[in-house]
Amino acid sequence: MARNTWDEYYLCNPEPWGKDPDDIVRMAAHNRPQRVLDVGGGDGRHAMYLARTGSQVTVIDKSTVALEYLKRRAEQEHLDITTKCQRLQDSPLSGTYDLVIATSVLHFLKEPATVIARMQRATFPGGTHALEAFCTQNTQDMPHLFTLEEVAALYDGWNIKKLCENTGPLHRHGRGPLHRHAGITLIAQKPKLLSFSDEQYGHEAK
Ligand SMILES: C[S@@+](CC[C@H](N)C(=O)[O-])C[C@H]1O[C@@H](n2cnc3c(N)ncnc32)[C@H](O)[C@@H]1O
Repeated sequence: MARNTWDEYYLCNPEPWGKDPDDIVRMAAHNRPQRVLDVGGGDGRHAMYLARTGSQVTVIDKSTVALEYLKRRAEQEHLDITTKCQRLQDSPLSGTYDLVIATSVLHFLKEPATVIARMQRATFPGGTHALEAFCTQNTQDMPHLFTLEEVAALYDGWNIKKLCENTGPLHRHGRGPLHRHAGITLIAQKPKLLSFSDEQYGHEAK
């Protein structure tokens, strides 16, 4: 894949998001080994954190620079991380996962609903999604800005454990423009399948 603006960004800014995982990822992961898909996972701060708990992590991102950097670090620590250099809008998101995370990426897509539907299909019943994405209160324009109502509708039928809007302080990077980040946070669980005996008795599987 030819170099893109994200590649240039990672080349000029090593580890731009730091090494620590976001709270939402810690909360959703419960510190246990599982099959994880990190959508737009960048240079892998979440993948590294999750793989260290024994999880098998697949990271999809369109930046070869970020993924090469992640691969090197994963090899050094013998971590189970697979990287796929793909654009999310072109990726089938194949596989089955217990945890799917997407932090700070879905607002870069013009039609995130299609990608979210694929993420949902790739999730095992009872599996979890953890999302962070910019919302309409954000002061920087993006290809897509979410509302709480929209996210709730996209996750209709899922068990929504956390859904809220967060507004950060006004700030600037260097001499850049004054701006404010505002986003939605979601943790949701896909409904579990009914087992044969539960169906007979009309109870949901535990
Ligand atoms: C702000 S970074 C967030 C990285 C990571 N999720 C994190 O929280 O540390 C956004 C990432 O999304 C990736 N990205 C943006 N648009 C994408 C697309 N259409 N397909 C795949 N990856 C994309 C970028 O390459 C970048 O690594």
